[in-house]
Amino acid sequence: MLAGSAILFALVLVLFLMVFLRPGWGSRIAPGRWIVLGGLVLPAIVLIPLVCYALYAGEQLLPLPGHAPQRIEAIAKQWDWTFRYPDQGGVETHGVLHVPAGTPVDIVVTSQDVVHAFWIPRFAGKIDAIPGHATHLRIQADQPGEYQGLCNQFCGLGHAGMHFTVIVDRPEDFSAAVKQAAATGEMNK
Ligand code: CUA
Repeated sequence: MLAGSAILFALVLVLFLMVFLRPGWGSRIAPGRWIVLGGLVLPAIVLIPLVCYALYAGEQLLPLPGHAPQRIEAIAKQWDWTFRYPDQGGVETHGVLHVPAGTPVDIVVTSQDVVHAFWIPRFAGKIDAIPGHATHLRIQADQPGEYQGLCNQFCGLGHAGMHFTVIVDRPEDFSAAVKQAAATGEMNK
């Protein structure tokens, strides 16, 4: 998009300079033609591929029907996050989300009280956590590492402190890491 807008900007600047440097140059092309080419043809060439790409990219954020990658439930409540791993025996971690690297993960987001929002800035996408309703967000982390997640919807006095840590594990370590984190969390409770 940046490259495309830079080219368009340059094109408009060239037209603008032509008006100064060669007065009368533009009048060789009929006004109607300027409108059709500049107002219809050019925007169509630019916008149609962008709309197609945006639809495609948007679809990639949604869980695919019939396709069942790792599912993790994110449960918000004032003012912390619980993560449940149905594919790992239903264990829970608190304040720490483990995901395997290099594979899509569907996060099912809900709330137990007010509206919150689930957001990991580095992974893009952000979705509301709504009481009594499950929203879905697909994320994929390419590299193992540690990231920050946070609540992105004002939800009361503790909102500012409602963040969580995201730990991306190597796929072969994921299961053990989840169980370890769940066990440690239980001990700390
Ligand atoms: Cu939860 Cu803001």
